[in-house]
Amino acid sequence: MSDVLTLPLPDDMHLHLRDGAMLEAVAPISAQRFGRAIIMPNLVPPVVTGAQALAYRDRILAAIGPDTGFTPLMTLYLTETTEPEDVAQAAADGLIHAVKLYPAGATTNSASGVRDFDKVRGVLERMAAIGLPLCVHGEVTDPEVDIFDREAVFIERVLDPIRQATPGLRVVMEHVTTAEGIAYIANSPADLAGTITTHHLILNRNHLLVGGIRPHYYCLPVAKRERHREALVAAATGGDPRYFLGTDSAPHLDAAKETGCGCAGCFTALNTLECLAQVFDAAGALDHLAGFATGHGAAFYGLSAPSGQVVLERRAEAAVWPAKLDTGAGPVTVFDPGFPVFWHRV
Ligand code: DOR
Ligand code: ZN
Repeated sequence: MSDVLTLPLPDDMHLHLRDGAMLEAVAPISAQRFGRAIIMPNLVPPVVTGAQALAYRDRILAAIGPDTGFTPLMTLYLTETTEPEDVAQAAADGLIHAVKLYPAGATTNSASGVRDFDKVRGVLERMAAIGLPLCVHGEVTDPEVDIFDREAVFIERVLDPIRQATPGLRVVMEHVTTAEGIAYIANSPADLAGTITTHHLILNRNHLLVGGIRPHYYCLPVAKRERHREALVAAATGGDPRYFLGTDSAPHLDAAKETGCGCAGCFTALNTLECLAQVFDAAGALDHLAGFATGHGAAFYGLSAPSGQVVLERRAEAAVWPAKLDTGAGPVTVFDPGFPVFWHRV
C-alpha cells in the first residue's frame, strides 16, 4: 500500500455542533474536513419541528461562512408529541434526513425523549412509509440495568420490538459499542445499519478508568471491554456497507468535563480522519476506509457521491494537533488517541 491515500471527502453521519459560541468554534472545523454531516438535534430546547430545524440550519451555515461546500443534513428530535405530518413535510421539503430517537434520560439533553414507545408509533409508521431513517440512541435507561449492559438490553427490549412492529422502517443504530450490537446488525436485513465512532474504535473501558479517571474519554454509550472494541474494528474495517462513520463528536467545555459530575462526549471532529487511517492501517484495511468514511453512509441515506477529495500521507513523524480548541466560552479538549498517528492531511 502506498504512503499516499486519496479519499472521497468524508461524511460524518452523526455530529453534535451545539449552538452559540460552541457552534461558532466547532462548525468550521467539521466544514473544513467533511462534505456533509447528519446534525444531531439535542440542543436545549431540542430541535423538534421543521421550523426549528430550518432556523438551526441557518445558524450552522452562518457559523461556517460562505466558502465551504459543507452540507448540514438536519434531523428532528422525536418526542411523544411529534406530529407525523410535520415530519413528513420536513422530509418532503428536503430539509431533514432522519429523525432521532433518544430514550428519555439516556444522555446529554435527552429529557424530552421518549418514555412510552407506543406514543411514537404513528410517526414511525409514517417514516416507514416515506423511507425516512430513524437514528436511535440504543441504551435503556432502567436504573436496574448496569450501564455496561444498556445497549444489549435495549436491542432486546426496545429496538427489536420497534423493528418487528414497523416493517420497512429504516433504522440506524447509532454509535454501536458492543459485540451484541454488531451481531444484531449482521443478522438483520439491509434496512438496519450502524454508525461507529472513531473513539469507540480506539478506546476500551481500561483507557477510561485505569490509572486515574480520564474525563475526556467519557462518552455515552460508555466504552466497553476490549473484546467489544475488537468487534467494532472488525465490523468497521471489514467492508460491509451496513457500517459507516458517525463520529458523535460531542464537544463540551473542559469545565463541564473536568468536574465532579462530568458530561459525556469526545471532541473528535478535528482529527478523526487521521485517527481512522491509523486504525484501518493497523488492521491492514486501508482499502476499506473510503467506504466506511463516505460511501456506505451516503448510500444508506440516498445521497449523491461526494464532490470533493482529501489526500492523506503516511510520514515518519507523528501528526500533532492542538491539545485544545479555544471557543468564545472556554477551551474544549481535542481527542487524544493515545498512540502515534502517522497519517497527515496534505
Ligand atoms: O457521549 C455522548 N455525548 N453521547 C451522546 O449520546 C450525546 C453526546 C452529547 O450530546 O454530548
Ligand atoms: Zn451523539
